[in-house]
Amino acid sequence: MARKVSKRKRPSKDDFLLKERFKVESEVFDRSTLLALSKLMGKGILQTVDNPISTGKEANVFRATTPSGSPIAVKIYKIETTKFMRRKEYIEGDRRFKKFRHTERDLVSAFAQKEYKNLEICAKAKVHAPKPLLQVKNILIMEFLGEDGLPYTQLNILGPESISQLKSILLDIRKLYRAGLVHADISEYNILVGPKPYLIDFGQGVILSHPNSERYLERDVYNIVKYFSKHGFKMDFEEALKYVKS
Ligand SMILES: Nc1ncnc2c1ncn2[C@@H]1O[C@H](COP(=O)(O)OP(=O)(O)O)[C@@H](O)[C@H]1O
Ligand SMILES: [Mg+2]
Repeated sequence: MARKVSKRKRPSKDDFLLKERFKVESEVFDRSTLLALSKLMGKGILQTVDNPISTGKEANVFRATTPSGSPIAVKIYKIETTKFMRRKEYIEGDRRFKKFRHTERDLVSAFAQKEYKNLEICAKAKVHAPKPLLQVKNILIMEFLGEDGLPYTQLNILGPESISQLKSILLDIRKLYRAGLVHADISEYNILVGPKPYLIDFGQGVILSHPNSERYLERDVYNIVKYFSKHGFKMDFEEALKYVKS
């Protein structure tokens, strides 16, 4: 006897059409993400979602365009979340996220929301970072950092160029600290090199009341100073830390 497939689970024509609307491979989006993207298109916030700039373990980043044709960046946190559960420490110690429910989907959305809020703090503190534009569920829309439609290159690919680059990064970390935020994942992979270095990837950034915020700050400063030092641009770690906290 044929088993009855519930109506909800049957793939619908709507799903098919929805997937057809995106140029990108549809399997990177789950249904709820597709619906949310489709709504953003309907509201005239997005015109197209183009090819991925980056496919990571926790998120994919796409270049997209607005109806007026300007590029914007769309970061989509993945709902498949075993990796996220590991990173709960960054959410649980942050009192801004005290009330969120611990389902996987909520945790993923909390990271998108956290990155959005952290980028708002960056904008206020005039830190070189993408300006946040909108966050819905697991989707974060932000300023596209790049030129002629191409994203700026990550620091790990270009390598460091000068000590003034390091100073600019430390100044941004200092501004953030003064604004009450620690990035908590600073590395050459999370810095894009434009006219100035830009800090990106703020999903795990924590406010200072987080029990580990000082440890994360030290780790951030240590990692970046060590990276520059390894490439011949030396700076004393203790001095750098003192400067950031001054
Ligand atoms: N606002 C942006 N503008 C242009 N490119 C971006 C932007 N944000 C991220 N990217 C690109 O996507 C990559 C991954 O972004 P990131 O936020 O670091 O996500 P992940 O969590 O996967 O590390 C970056 O290294 C960069 O190349
Ligand atoms: Mg990153």
